[in-house]
Amino acid sequence: MWRASVLTIFPEIFPGPLGASLAGKALASGTWSLDVTDIRSFATDKHRSVDDTPAGGGPGMVMKADVLGRAIDATAADRRPRLLLSPRGNPLTQNRVEKLAAGTGIVLVCGRFEGIDERVIAGRGLEEVSVGDYVLSGGEIAAMALIDACVRLLPGVMGAAASGTEESFADGLLEYPQYTRPQVWEGQPIPEVLLSGDHAKIAAWRRSEAERLTKARRPDLWERYSGPKKGPAKWR
Ligand SMILES: C[S@@+](CC[C@H](N)C(=O)[O-])C[C@H]1O[C@@H](n2cnc3c(N)ncnc32)[C@H](O)[C@@H]1O
Repeated sequence: MWRASVLTIFPEIFPGPLGASLAGKALASGTWSLDVTDIRSFATDKHRSVDDTPAGGGPGMVMKADVLGRAIDATAADRRPRLLLSPRGNPLTQNRVEKLAAGTGIVLVCGRFEGIDERVIAGRGLEEVSVGDYVLSGGEIAAMALIDACVRLLPGVMGAAASGTEESFADGLLEYPQYTRPQVWEGQPIPEVLLSGDHAKIAAWRRSEAERLTKARRPDLWERYSGPKKGPAKWR
């Protein structure tokens, strides 16, 4: 069973949206498991402090290395990757998600305040991972995004296996536009080719739309896709 362990000072936030829909059903049926550790329960002072003022001064608070170190030691005695959600981290990609989903699970540390004491990162072998170039108030929502992206790839979670292989990023391109009934909505028809029944023509149209959208919206992806190693995304 694929296992997600989350360390947070807000354990009550979980499972949150992970308890609904595909992820929720898979959680209930035992395809994956979720355990949540309350970092605060590893504090030793009478105020159960998990943070302190930054060394060198400055605004905000920093999560304490001693408390967090104990929480990690109590949670993650196995060889699963230990990830720290952090805006400084490596941007999360679908390729990384696929690798994480193919393993035995993940351990996720959710930061709060100004972040965590730097010494825990090296001391406990945490890899920093970012969900985007913006700053959230805490790592919990980022952790949920990462878990959701992994869980939907676990065997049996998605209805049709093909819905994973044809999605955005699966071959280095954004996904082509999708349509469903009614055939005409507010004067806009579904593109005729999609109603033609000609599978080769439909595939060609979808590929060209995926290329058009990727070129227009994500020059970074397009550059890699259309560069010297043009073709399915082994480059990511
Ligand atoms: C307010 S943020 C700290 C931001 C930090 N002072 C900085 O400038 O990089 C608090 C916590 O939210 C989480 N977080 C915020 N933005 C994130 C992002 N883009 N990706 C992943 N985690 C994020 C991290 O766990 C972080 O420690």
